[in-house]
Amino acid sequence: MADDARQQLRAYVEYFRDMGVHDFYRNGEPVAVESPATVVTTHAERVAVPLAAATVDRAQVSIAPSAIEKSYAEPAISKLVSFDDLAPLPGNRVAVSDRADALKAIQTEIGDCTRCPLAYAGRHTIVFGDGDPGARLMFVGEGPGADEDASGVPFVGKAGQLLNNMINAMGLKREDVYIANIVKCRPPANRVPEPVEADTCKGFLLGQMDVVQPQVVVALGATAATYLLGAKQSLAELRGRWHSCRGAKLVVTYHPAFLLRDPRQKGEAWKDLQMVMAELGLKAPAKG
Ligand code: URA
Repeated sequence: MADDARQQLRAYVEYFRDMGVHDFYRNGEPVAVESPATVVTTHAERVAVPLAAATVDRAQVSIAPSAIEKSYAEPAISKLVSFDDLAPLPGNRVAVSDRADALKAIQTEIGDCTRCPLAYAGRHTIVFGDGDPGARLMFVGEGPGADEDASGVPFVGKAGQLLNNMINAMGLKREDVYIANIVKCRPPANRVPEPVEADTCKGFLLGQMDVVQPQVVVALGATAATYLLGAKQSLAELRGRWHSCRGAKLVVTYHPAFLLRDPRQKGEAWKDLQMVMAELGLKAPAKG
């Protein structure tokens, strides 16, 4: 086994041990938990599922880049791959009238997901996404917290309230935008998602992005930026300029949870949102 795969497997096992889990059972039946070294599903297959569900013309989607052909058995698992390099953009846009159904199809494909350790780490609800399937603006966060895990809706806790305020300050309502996360299940103790968890989940987010096809994406915080752009850089390096992702313009800003801890940075986040407003022709609502 390659070193990276061995390291990944060790991390995976240690993770379960830390959680106090040594045997795996579901509904009283033993469950075979595949290790990352034995899972044979390729990124290409995982990416193809939501694309197919989104009624994208598969004939126009030639999923070939070598980066996405790697299986978990290969060392490339720990390499970051941008969403743009995960799969080609679909040749056809999903009609606005079909987007809700296309998103539903991806959600159905996810099902009662047990593809990664988060399924066994105290998750109650899979938090799929929320908002307008035809939104011009999409926000991507890190992963659900306790409130989201309980409600099944992203960004409903304290950070969510701040995000709502940010959206309102842009002259929009929450229902006007689409909101999703890098992972759809709550990481225990709100830790940052492990690469294997983000990698397992990101094909579904990619499918959502390809269905909604927003004009602008806002990556909330470093985790979202890292996985969407396939590069680990500081927020200072990433903020204040445009990136691209799945045919959309992407801007990186602070995660609302960070802004709650350090409200002095709210002015900086507002600068990022003003870039978005200029791009979308939005005006802040008049005060009073
Ligand atoms: N933080 C996130 O990144 N996502 C949520 O849905 C809630 C909090």
